[in-house]
Amino acid sequence: MANMHPNPLPIVVLLSGRGSNLKTILDAVRHDKLPVVVRAVISNRVDAEGLRYATEASVPTHSLLPTSYANRREFDVALQTLIDRYQPQLVVLAGFMRILTPEFVRYFQGRLINIHPSLLPAYTGLNTHQRALQDNASEHGATVHFVTEGVDEGPIILQGRVAVMSNDSVASLAARVLQVEHRIYPQVLKWFAQGRLKLSQNEVWLDNEPIANTTHS
Ligand code: GRF
Repeated sequence: MANMHPNPLPIVVLLSGRGSNLKTILDAVRHDKLPVVVRAVISNRVDAEGLRYATEASVPTHSLLPTSYANRREFDVALQTLIDRYQPQLVVLAGFMRILTPEFVRYFQGRLINIHPSLLPAYTGLNTHQRALQDNASEHGATVHFVTEGVDEGPIILQGRVAVMSNDSVASLAARVLQVEHRIYPQVLKWFAQGRLKLSQNEVWLDNEPIANTTHS
């Protein structure tokens, strides 16, 4: 994909479904708002709807099917090999619904990020919106974090918050959180592409300072 920036950051995006975060990234690149180049999009499902956004943007796509591999480790080795072909400086998980092996995570440590639909450490795992509503949480949101070995546990880079309304349904809350996701993920990619963001000794550094936690409301 064409990019007007002199040295765009090469990334590979991994997804399993809808792909709205991928779409947001590709739109930002197309409008010259994000100095990255999406080198490939990889899915663990052939029918992941999000793959079409890559195809529309002439980005190569691959589907790696878990059923073709004897175990999780073999799948992750194949995934790692495929990603390496594109030499990304950052691997972006955007709704990739698989637990990754510690070996895979260690290999990409510091250049593997994820977005999760909750204000971590609250609500790791699935059904985050439903659980926030059940708990009568007053606020909810999304978190971008570096991926380390524990699921949804890596050092937090940026969070975006929304107020939970008394009349919220899972769908209405999910839609508001998704808008936040579409704001904070490109922001984090931009920081990384600008060389401002790094993981060092399990701490997130932005502009040469450790950040405890950055919030966008
Ligand atoms: C998002 O809610 C993200 O936080 C979670 O999976 C969902 C992916 O959505 N990890 P999309 O496929 O980007 O639309």
